Amino acid sequence: MSSTILVTGATGYIGSHTCLELLESGYQLIGIDNLSNSREESLRRVQKLSGKPLTFIRCDLLDEAGLARVFAEHPVDAVIHFAGLKAVGESVEKPLLYYKNNLSGTANLLEAMANAEVKNIVFSSSCTVYGIPEKLPISEDFPLQAVSPYGQTKLTIEYMLQDLHASDPQWNISILRYFNPVRAHPSGDIGEDPSGIPNNLMPYITQVAVGEREQLSVFGGDYDTPDGTCIRDYIHVVDLAKGHIKALEKLQDNPGAVITNLGTGQGYSVLDMIRAFAAATGIKIPYQIVERRAGDTTAVYADAGKAERDLGWKAKRDLQQMCKDAHRWQSKNPRGYL
Ligand code: NAD
Ligand code: UD1
Repeated sequence: MSSTILVTGATGYIGSHTCLELLESGYQLIGIDNLSNSREESLRRVQKLSGKPLTFIRCDLLDEAGLARVFAEHPVDAVIHFAGLKAVGESVEKPLLYYKNNLSGTANLLEAMANAEVKNIVFSSSCTVYGIPEKLPISEDFPLQAVSPYGQTKLTIEYMLQDLHASDPQWNISILRYFNPVRAHPSGDIGEDPSGIPNNLMPYITQVAVGEREQLSVFGGDYDTPDGTCIRDYIHVVDLAKGHIKALEKLQDNPGAVITNLGTGQGYSVLDMIRAFAAATGIKIPYQIVERRAGDTTAVYADAGKAERDLGWKAKRDLQQMCKDAHRWQSKNPRGYL
């Protein structure tokens, strides 16, 4: 496969893992990012791990002229679009920043693609578009509801893409709704590198494990779940990255605009995760059950059947491996890419 893929948000967490899988699958790569939430170091490591080069261009999606230059100077067959701001809490405080960056950025990208006659795109959506699900597991035809400005941007981009396809059926669009990605590549050389105090569970657990933080606060022990803590569908980021390769391959069949959950189909509680981490690494995470966190949903996990039927993709890595690899990344890089 010698296609050239343009990856937006390439230096970011999921972008960098996907770049590695793409290089290993034989694709040529152009990565772009404005480096607002990532470092070029991630792609230096991706090239070292794969032994293959890629082209990185620092470019902001809000810079229309810069984007046009990228497409004019590089022939591209398809785009994987990761670039965007993703912090739910920050989106509540700064909604305009999120609407401008994520929506205008995506509109600029799509326009630049249309001008360059590139009409194949894979987009990073999120299970957040399901809001509070009425039942489980969550399948792609469930009702949609944005519960934050961040979620609203994901939902709006999904509609933007579907409208684009309706206006011009030559577009091939794969919308992937991720469940909860868990760091990191098994090499321990690339991983999730949150700045400041992590919001997400696994980065917090691994920072406690290496002594960067004292103990984990478990947000709520009184949910209507078997052990009282929230349930999520945690997916190894390498499985997630591989899902993008399958989605790209599928675009060649001219599927139109398709939506697919990328999750494992398994739900685990916060206490399950703490136990799994201890079993995988031998490290017991000290924790305390505290108040619920505003905005958390009791239980979320995917119906992963459509991904298997349509893309031939299924998550393979279990909790044990997620915890081992997450810990390896944190141990090798206690302060991230610094
Ligand atoms: P990330 O922040 O590590 O990567 C996003 C990248 O986009 C960053 O490198 C950032 O610098 C870049 N970026 C932001 N705005 C840009 C702009 N205007 N121009 C150019 N680059 C820009 O985040 P991630 O976890 O890798 O997420 C990738 C995508 O997946 C995002 O769209 C996110 O919303 C989505 N997603 C992530 C999760 C998750 O838990 N990580 C879950 C569901 C969906
Ligand atoms: C968050 C985002 C979601 C994003 C997802 C993927 C919110 C409201 N949602 O989801 O949009 O797609 O990340 O990474 O931010 N927990 C603790 N202690 C902690 C951290 C988390 O108990 O220190 C609990 C949470 O209450 C939750 C679970 O762990 O029950 C998972 O939390 P987190 O990793 O933040 O993911 P989500 O909230 O599912």
